[in-house]
Amino acid sequence: MIDAQAEFTVRPIGLIHTPFADSPGMPIQAARSEAVGRVEVYAEYVPGLADLNGFSHVILVYWFHRAGDFSLAVRPFLDDRSHGLFATRYPTRPNPIGLSVVELVAVEGGALHVRGVDMLDETPLLDIKPFVAAFDHREDVRVGWLTGRV
Ligand SMILES: C[S@@+](CC[C@H](N)C(=O)[O-])C[C@H]1O[C@@H](n2cnc3c(N)ncnc32)[C@H](O)[C@@H]1O
Repeated sequence: MIDAQAEFTVRPIGLIHTPFADSPGMPIQAARSEAVGRVEVYAEYVPGLADLNGFSHVILVYWFHRAGDFSLAVRPFLDDRSHGLFATRYPTRPNPIGLSVVELVAVEGGALHVRGVDMLDETPLLDIKPFVAAFDHREDVRVGWLTGRV
């Protein structure tokens, strides 16, 4: 059984290069970004990119490496009222993991050229998964406090 104090080690598989050196003014969600980026995959993981080029979009999973301490109540980007952290996409989290669906423009060796980035430059990459609408899309969703804001 996993106990509540268990720790897990993650190792970056690459780095995400984006035009954003700092947070102010940068996109707050990938769906609202047209910015292009380059995902650099470390050499030992490059064979895992085989067959990815047939996909139009990928899910990038990454570490918010510049996030500070978390709070369980936050004032998110799209509201001036406080909300429970887990009802938001706020970057400061107990495990500061981000995910973004981005357009896969091209695969070039160990580099993915992508569009729609919303992470800071040099964000450590943890994983890549193909975006598959049949798996990842849901009809008739409710969006809680974000209703009318997205
Ligand atoms: C609201 S989060 C959403 C990220 C992702 N789409 C998600 O839902 O997990 C995006 C914001 O996190 C911040 N951010 C992005 N990359 C970061 C990083 N590497 N470390 C700390 N904060 C970061 C920026 O302020 C950016 O606008």
